[in-house]
Amino acid sequence: MKRMLSGIKPTGKLTLGNYIGAIREFIKYQDEYEMFIFIANLHAITVPNDPKELRKNTKDLIALYLASGLDPEKVTLFLQSDIHEHAELGWMLTCHSYMGELQRMTQYKDKVAKGEQNLTAGLFTYPCLMAADILLYDADYVPVGIDQKQHVELTRDIAIRFNNRYGETFVVPEPLVTKVGAKIYSLTEPTKKMSKSENDDKSTIYLLDDPKLARKKIMSAVTDSVGIIQYDPENQPGLANLLTIQSALSGEAIDSIVERYQGKGYGELKKEIGATVENFLTELQAKYRDILASGICEKVLANGKEQAQAVAFKKVRKVKKKLGFQIFN
Ligand code: AMP
Ligand code: TRP
Repeated sequence: MKRMLSGIKPTGKLTLGNYIGAIREFIKYQDEYEMFIFIANLHAITVPNDPKELRKNTKDLIALYLASGLDPEKVTLFLQSDIHEHAELGWMLTCHSYMGELQRMTQYKDKVAKGEQNLTAGLFTYPCLMAADILLYDADYVPVGIDQKQHVELTRDIAIRFNNRYGETFVVPEPLVTKVGAKIYSLTEPTKKMSKSENDDKSTIYLLDDPKLARKKIMSAVTDSVGIIQYDPENQPGLANLLTIQSALSGEAIDSIVERYQGKGYGELKKEIGATVENFLTELQAKYRDILASGICEKVLANGKEQAQAVAFKKVRKVKKKLGFQIFN
C-alpha cells in the first residue's frame, strides 16, 4: 500500500480553505493509502507563540480532524512534537539544503517583501523541517493546498540530493494538489488566499464560526458587475470562488451548478451556497463538540505516537548510519 502524509499547523483558527484544500482530501484518501496525518506544532513556533492559544488550537485541530471524518483506525494521527526524530532529521536536512533554495521559497519571500520585521531563523529554515516530516515516513504522496506545493518540491530535491550522495535512503515524494479547491480565496478580496491570519473577519470562514454568521459572510461576499453566472476565475474571481466552495462541499460539478443557474441572479446562488455552508458547519461543530466531550483525543494521540515513533526511529537510525554517526557495529 502506498503511503501518504500531511500536516497542518495549529496556528490561528482553521478555515474553510484548510478544510477544502487539505482535510477533505485526507478523508478522501484514507481508504486507499496508508496515511500519516499530524499536527505540525513545531512549525507553529516559527511565528510569535502564545502557549495558551497553541494548546487551544492544537486541541481544536485534533477534534476537527476527527469531526471531519478522519478515522483513527485507518490513519496514524499524531502530534509532531511527540516524535523527536522530526527535529533531529530536520537538522540533518538543514545541513543538506542551500541558502539560495530557501531564499526562493515564496512564503518566506512574501514576508520579506512585505517588510515584516523580526522574522525568525526558524521561519527561514522551516522547509527543511517540513522535508524531514515527509521523508521520515517514506511518504509517496503529500496532499497539500497549492501554497505548499513548492515546499514538497524542495523536499524532492533534498531527497534526491541525499540519495545521490549517500545511496538510496529516502522515498522521493510527490505533491498531490486537489483539482477543485486547491486555493480558496478571501471573500472580500477574492484574488488573495483565504487565510487564518487575515484580520478582516468577513473575508474568512472559520470552521468554528457561528454557522449563521458564516452564511452572512457568504451573502456579503464580493462578486462582480458582469451579472452572468459562469466559471471565469480570471474575470469573475469572487463568483468562481463561491462556485468552488459549493462544488467542494456538495460534490456537484461546477458545470452542473452553473447550468442550473442560467438566467438567474447572484443573490439566489449565494442563498444556496450560504445554506450549504451553514449546514456543513452545523453538522461539523456538533461532531466536534461530541468528540471534545468524549475525551477520545488523548487516546488517539497516544496511539498515533506509538505507531509514528516506530517508523521514525528506524528511519533516523538509517540516516545516522549513512552520515557516519554510527561508529561501532
Ligand atoms: P496552513 O493553514 O498554512 O497550516 O495550511 C494547512 C493546509 O491547508 C495546507 O495543505 C494548505 O495548503 C491548505 N490551505 C490553507 N489555506 C488554504 C486555502 N485558502 N485554500 C486551499 N487550501 C488551503
Ligand atoms: N507547512 C505546512 C503548512 O504551513 C504544514 C506542514 C508541515 C506540512 N509539515 C508538513 C504539510 C508536511 C505537508 C507535509 O501548511
